[in-house]
Amino acid sequence: MEKYGETLFVLDPAEKTRLELLADVFDPLCQETLAGLGIASDARCLEIGAGSGSVASWLCERAGEGEVVATDLDPALLERIEHPRLRSLRHDVTSDPLPEASFDMAHARLVLSHLPQRDDVMRRILGWLRPGGFVLIESFCWFPVDSSPHPLYRKVMQAWSDLICGALGTDSWWSRTQPASFTGYGYRDVGARTVTQNLRGGTPLADFWRLTVDMSYDRLIAGGHLTADELEGFYALLKDPGFWDLAPALVQAWGRK
Ligand SMILES: C[S@@+](CC[C@H](N)C(=O)[O-])C[C@H]1O[C@@H](n2cnc3c(N)ncnc32)[C@H](O)[C@@H]1O
Repeated sequence: MEKYGETLFVLDPAEKTRLELLADVFDPLCQETLAGLGIASDARCLEIGAGSGSVASWLCERAGEGEVVATDLDPALLERIEHPRLRSLRHDVTSDPLPEASFDMAHARLVLSHLPQRDDVMRRILGWLRPGGFVLIESFCWFPVDSSPHPLYRKVMQAWSDLICGALGTDSWWSRTQPASFTGYGYRDVGARTVTQNLRGGTPLADFWRLTVDMSYDRLIAGGHLTADELEGFYALLKDPGFWDLAPALVQAWGRK
């Protein structure tokens, strides 16, 4: 098993573009749910695997008298953000320490599903939260791709999911049952919502999925998962405004310490 960012999702200019697109498409949903969970103006916030830092920047505005700690295996994009409330950290959530009982909230989007140690990480986050603090975890679910009426879309998305599952240990289905496991980790007041988005060719959401699959173009072909023609056909679909389907669902699950 290799580690995230070693050969897949390396933080190069293409990955930077993909992370910025991800933020544009998914930040409004995230902000709505975080605001509903409640962020006090003096909250101490933990943004795990912060990527481009868009959520961390938003948290800095919400918690105007608090502090935001934004972590990532590679914090290069976070270090560009200048904000007096933001502290960026090179930090591996699976192994590096943080002070116990020191955060009012923690958030991780599209991080834990990639980590085989996700159960242990959920317990580590519980330790870092103050009593009453909450965690929000956001993860994709491969529903409804698996029932798509477009065979090529279904095939390419499944091949990509299989590739990253084999390489990194990513679980594209964990999100479906993850709220049930929150109670076992020790969280209370567990809740969840799942959002399915229409996927139309040529939109920012379609561009995000096209760039995501394209990151693994060489591996998909070299491993015999897909042919170049299949990948070109998939890219053409996702650029075509006449193509309509559903994107992988986004599951948001939360709980309190
Ligand atoms: C798909 S990106 C999502 C970025 C950001 N959370 C967002 O949604 O905009 C996954 C992020 O998790 C980070 N990451 C992966 N494994 C990690 C680990 N073990 N510890 C900390 N960050 C990690 C990656 O470096 C990357 O920035």
